[in-house]
Amino acid sequence: MYLGLDLGTSGVKALLIDGDQTVIGSANGALDISRPHHGWSEQDPAHWIKATETAIAGLKAKFPAELSAVKGIGLSGQMHGATLIDASGDVLRPSILWNDTRSYAEAAKLDADPRFRQITGNIVFPGFTAPKLAWVKNNEPEIFAKVAKVLLPKDYLRLWLTGEYISEMSDSAGTSWLDTGARKWSSELLAATDLDEKHMPSLVEGTDEAGVLRSELASAWGISGKVVVAGGAGDNAASACGMGTVAEGHAFVSLGTSGVLFAANASYLPKPESAVHAFCHALPNTWHQMGVILSATDALNWYSGIAGKSASELSSELGDDLQAPTGVTFAPYLSGERTPHNDAAIRGSFIGLSHESDRKALTQAVLEGVTFAIRDNLEALKSAGTSISRVTAIGGGSRSRYWLASIATSLGVPVDIPAEGDFGAAFGAARLGLIAATGADPVAVCTQPETEETIEPVAALSGAYEEAYARYRALYPAIKP
Ligand code: XUL
Repeated sequence: MYLGLDLGTSGVKALLIDGDQTVIGSANGALDISRPHHGWSEQDPAHWIKATETAIAGLKAKFPAELSAVKGIGLSGQMHGATLIDASGDVLRPSILWNDTRSYAEAAKLDADPRFRQITGNIVFPGFTAPKLAWVKNNEPEIFAKVAKVLLPKDYLRLWLTGEYISEMSDSAGTSWLDTGARKWSSELLAATDLDEKHMPSLVEGTDEAGVLRSELASAWGISGKVVVAGGAGDNAASACGMGTVAEGHAFVSLGTSGVLFAANASYLPKPESAVHAFCHALPNTWHQMGVILSATDALNWYSGIAGKSASELSSELGDDLQAPTGVTFAPYLSGERTPHNDAAIRGSFIGLSHESDRKALTQAVLEGVTFAIRDNLEALKSAGTSISRVTAIGGGSRSRYWLASIATSLGVPVDIPAEGDFGAAFGAARLGLIAATGADPVAVCTQPETEETIEPVAALSGAYEEAYARYRALYPAIKP
């Protein structure tokens, strides 16, 4: 048996698979976000441990024999969070999360130093880890002085599980301190934020062994033998392992709270000016690119709160057959935007409203607005050297056939819907646990799920969609001032 642990923003998921990769079962532990000031987003790492204990207790209640047979664990986690540890291994302050924008001024300052884009291959976004440390140095100098280690969220979980300070390439690529092409820490970039390699965990590949489960935990979980903990991955690379998006030409679109268009690459293809993220993948010697938008299902949920109908009621009002855009354009920048604008201050808008613009028309505009933001990501990836000829859809929003038809038509590519199953980050993490424990070939393990259905672009609407996308493109420069 192998265990995947995904430390998400809203909860921890623990998922068990057997040696044939059949899912045995899963359990969750919930998490809250604390937002004490405008733009802040924090979690207490002690809550991550509690939520993990809840999830494991849930598994133990349902599958005690299977849990006691676990031989390998893989970790996945929300990326970019800054977890600060002192010399005795204690947490210094709440972890500052990926969607915290307080360090926008520090991010802009670091990004203006050309070494960051050159060495990391990425813009220094406010959500990344290095600018958060610069913020702590400027605003909480007494805490900064005590920092002995900086850990990403899932690597803090590893410290609790194994006692080891270890990270891996895919998550570390989102810190702004990694030399992404060489897959090692950059002492030059660490020095630019008054840190050095001593402050960082050691690095392995996601498929490597990275610690062994502590004996106290093993016996509490009913396990007697050695349990290997794999390097694991940041949640997007872990999902890619779950979906088999590991070879050149494979891509997925994720419609979750945020939206991601993810492509696996055989080589390192940085293009920071496009705002595409170019990160290490979880498998050795591979990389990936992704465009990230900050509000995908978040935009529909926001509109659902105003319209007084659930997101699924709203999208079912549209039916399954794609309609031509009505002329109402929606910009989904409710929390600012990463790709392609790198703009923490921009906010959303509706434009082109008329007397005919009823609830249904606005729902349609919201789905189209997110679709066009994903299309912006497709164009950004193209400019970064990656063309996408089909995508697999995952995430809660992919339950809307209408939305998928809209994405297929705007991107001009077929959208595959996987057969029923659990192919997310926890499953990808469990696969990494299996690989690390058995030495199996990563590519043979990380296969793609079967496709249940393919949504094709609606050719009759592609002209109308192009016109609507042109209106959408014109909106950002117009609302920016
Ligand atoms: C990726 C990103 C998010 C988080 C969500 O760059 O910020 O997708 O990983 O957990």
